[in-house]
Amino acid sequence: MTLITTQEGATFLITLNRPDKLNALNQEVMGELDAAVDQFLQDDSLKGAIITGSGPKAFAAGADIKEFLSLDQSQGVDLSQKGQGIFAKIEQSPKPIIAAVNGFALGGGCELAMSCHFRLASDNAMFGQPEVKLGLLAGYGGTQRLTRLIGRGKATELLITGDMIDANEALRLGLVNEVTSFQELLPRCQKILGRSYRQSPLAIAYTLEAIEAGVAGGDGYRKESENFGKAIVSEDGKEGATAFLEKRKPTFKGV
Ligand code: COA
Repeated sequence: MTLITTQEGATFLITLNRPDKLNALNQEVMGELDAAVDQFLQDDSLKGAIITGSGPKAFAAGADIKEFLSLDQSQGVDLSQKGQGIFAKIEQSPKPIIAAVNGFALGGGCELAMSCHFRLASDNAMFGQPEVKLGLLAGYGGTQRLTRLIGRGKATELLITGDMIDANEALRLGLVNEVTSFQELLPRCQKILGRSYRQSPLAIAYTLEAIEAGVAGGDGYRKESENFGKAIVSEDGKEGATAFLEKRKPTFKGV
């Protein structure tokens, strides 16, 4: 197994598991990641997921460079599109998915982290898109997501130099939400997800969908209004307002 999944309460923990290869994303890992994301999406008992890497050294040091040399042009396009598809599925999840970045998040590893809804990093984390050093470019959405997340200027600088940044610089640039110790990384992710589990899963799904609509270049305001209308007539929407007025805690059912 190049990937380990475990369930802790309502949280699905997805751990990339090739520590001796710094969790490089070969096709086997990508296939298992795709299946794990499907499992998460289909299981209603799971309310959130964390993606991380095994070992102390890396989240993922990129796509597996060993697989590159045999590819022709159309296989290169396919590889990129397949990766983009899996990462888009993560980004479009109606339930939150957080990247817990421990160590190197390079190339496809950085792109995987960026496809998650947000990122926390341990203080040994390093981020970068070093593909240019291999005569290549980011192929799993990096040119787009890095630009969106940290702005065109800094993203372009990182993409054309291949330079790495550390956790504190990633925090300063808004690439990660928080920097923690290595030991605190997963507990802190669990804690944030746990706070979201108290809220309506339906309201969360509508929120994530509205954010994504705008980020993906659609009419995010329109999606927000549509979803606001759906939420206001939902059982959870009624329950939330009623509970507030009755000065009690709401009980949300996700409908
Ligand atoms: N693809 C395939 N194998 C990789 C890999 C990748 N992206 N990244 C690391 N590995 C392998 C190494 O080949 C090595 O395997 P080996 O022990 O069989 O020789 C093992 O992981 C450990 O890596 P190593 O380079 O020895 O560790 P390091 O601490 O000296 O350096 C990095 C760490 C991250 C700086 C270095 O591994 C690196 O530059 N990796 C490639 C990053 C990259 O270009 N990613 C984008 C790919 S598109």
